[in-house]
Amino acid sequence: MFFPYTSGRKGMLGSEKEVGRVAQTVVVGVTGGIGAYKACELVRLLSRRGFRVKVVMTDAAMRFVTPLTFRTLTGEPVASSLWEEPAYGGVRHVSLAQEADVMVVAPCTANVIAKLAHGRADDMLTTTALAAQAPLVIAPAMNAEMWRKQVTRDNVAALRARGAVIVEPEAGELACGDVGEGRLAPVEDIADAVEAEACRARDLAGVRVLVTAGGTREAIDPVRFIGNRSSGKTGYAIAEEAARRGASVTLVAAPTCLADPYGAEVVRVTSALEMRDAVRAGFDRADLVVMAAAVADFRPEGPAEHKLKKDAGAPALALVRNPDILAELGERKDGRLLVGFAAETRDVLESARAKLEAKHLDLVVANDVGAPGRGFDADINRVTFVTAEGAEELPVLGKDAIARKLLDRIAEMLARRGQR
Ligand code: CTP
Repeated sequence: MFFPYTSGRKGMLGSEKEVGRVAQTVVVGVTGGIGAYKACELVRLLSRRGFRVKVVMTDAAMRFVTPLTFRTLTGEPVASSLWEEPAYGGVRHVSLAQEADVMVVAPCTANVIAKLAHGRADDMLTTTALAAQAPLVIAPAMNAEMWRKQVTRDNVAALRARGAVIVEPEAGELACGDVGEGRLAPVEDIADAVEAEACRARDLAGVRVLVTAGGTREAIDPVRFIGNRSSGKTGYAIAEEAARRGASVTLVAAPTCLADPYGAEVVRVTSALEMRDAVRAGFDRADLVVMAAAVADFRPEGPAEHKLKKDAGAPALALVRNPDILAELGERKDGRLLVGFAAETRDVLESARAKLEAKHLDLVVANDVGAPGRGFDADINRVTFVTAEGAEELPVLGKDAIARKLLDRIAEMLARRGQR
């Protein structure tokens, strides 16, 4: 079993005392939904898994479960009011936020999701969440209509974009009698998500990561360009996940419609040549490079200075090769870890293996972009990690999950090399 612990500032639990380990602290936020009673089970489960658990409740939550229940289960004081005297001095919401290795809100109502998404801090729970730097896990629970509403979807998307992990509610019979999606996820799933965050919380601390994303645009004239269908979603997810895990991240981004990933420095480029310059500028400082960008292999030779007019007839486009940025990096990698992507419509694995070798890469993320509904512009994909040791095929996953799996794999590789 995974036994979470960190060194340093944490108080000790009885069992850890004997072996000298210090438990990680999970702050469990409980909001006012009927699922609040399941938070009792979550707290027990987290304690059993070796975490020190501290609970913070909203006023509405206390109408469903009493603080006494949680105090008894955790052996810790329960925070609920911003105005109560702190048990050990200091400013309670700030000290609680600082103690958190992971914060989880379960159940999380639509109202608290909205507050968290907009940075409102008007009670102990939301103030603690805003002050915390720890990973945030949110387990929503509400009526199916509320969950389906666009405003809730937008709030959830905003939280996810800032790095929160959402443990999606499941479908079933709801307290209001409706049947639909909105029931709190099983507490085991929520505990697993907390444990995963605790585990990876800082596993890339100190690693300098350079990520590229998006599709380059190669100018035909000042208005038109040759582009490709890359949305940038995977590269952005990798940059954000790496930053969340403590890496110092530079994202070289070709044009996308995406919001800047939280915690990464973003360098914007348009063409393959600009991307090559930006990547070269960051390469010396990087320990790891992930080339998720779809770089155009060719560009129009000498783009027109002025907009081409149709009356002049169909232009003859002469194309020239762009430099292969990743292959160039492979020639002078000098101990760095290099990860490339292979987007293919056939012979996916063979092509990935060939790229691995030809460009001196450590890992290639191979994906079949010919499959309908996956790959380019979709939120899901099915990829295979190809290394010199073999191929690991992943199931169809969201791009956030793919980013996580990739960085899990990279963290392992760095650990094996003794770089972590
Ligand atoms: N890449 C790059 N510079 C280029 C082209 C691609 O750095 N000019 C990187 C991509 O970011 C990706 C990987 O190389 O990580 C893709 O490999 P590549 O061999 O270019 O794939 P394809 O363009 O699909 O190549 P081919 O036409 O040979 O299949």
